[in-house]
Amino acid sequence: MIRIGALISGTGSNLEAVRQACEAGEIDGKIVFAGADKPSAKGLAKAEKAGVPTFEVDYASIIKTFKTSFEKFSLPPDFDINQVVAKSRLFEGGVPTDEEIDFFRIRAAAEAGLLSHMAAYSFDLLILAGFMRKLTPYFIDRVNTDPAVPRIMNIHPALLPSFPGTDGYGDTWRYGCKVGGCTVHFVDYGEDTGPIIGQKAFPITPSDTLETVKEKGLHLEWQLYPECIRLFAEGRLKVTTRPYGRAAGESRERRVVNIS
Ligand code: GRF
Repeated sequence: MIRIGALISGTGSNLEAVRQACEAGEIDGKIVFAGADKPSAKGLAKAEKAGVPTFEVDYASIIKTFKTSFEKFSLPPDFDINQVVAKSRLFEGGVPTDEEIDFFRIRAAAEAGLLSHMAAYSFDLLILAGFMRKLTPYFIDRVNTDPAVPRIMNIHPALLPSFPGTDGYGDTWRYGCKVGGCTVHFVDYGEDTGPIIGQKAFPITPSDTLETVKEKGLHLEWQLYPECIRLFAEGRLKVTTRPYGRAAGESRERRVVNIS
């Protein structure tokens, strides 16, 4: 049985779908904690009601402390800005701006808070279920202790690599796509760029609205996420690399997921 930790920011309907799939035996797993980046995340109450231990790290108050009372702000002692900047692909390369440096420092403080709560639990997989914060290498490296075995999954409301970011279904809709979808992927140092585990698509018809597109997408997410987590629980996911160069002579590699 795998132990699954979860991070959420909102209603937690994906977390609930995964929890129910565990309860129904569709996944040989158990949710061992649910954390949030804000005390008001509605999904926390749902998780508590189901007996799942919860915690929250108030990102907004950490950001406020950094900006308004810096003397009270503290960085984790093991934070190395050079290492984080060198690894992260959240921003364009080159010399980081002061704003980007501040972003990494604030995130490290918040992520250290998450990690200290998570340290109380043993877990095999961490799922981001509507967790709306970008994770930095500071956090990712402390969860993915073996880089060859990623164990952080995310669900995204679009058919990646199209429409990364915070509003996948909205971007899909506004772009006038005729097909929408959702994607489950392992988290890497970029934003929604990690190796893809599973995707599901749905048609967008003339009678659809932004709301019906979101509804269709969410219903598919509740199927896709448990399926992908079941594959992880069965040890059937292997990350390998594949040549990805576009231009002649360009030798880039991309990490992809093979399902056995
Ligand atoms: C989902 O559409 C997910 O893809 C996106 O945020 C939404 C969260 O839904 N990242 P919920 O909190 O799981 O209900």
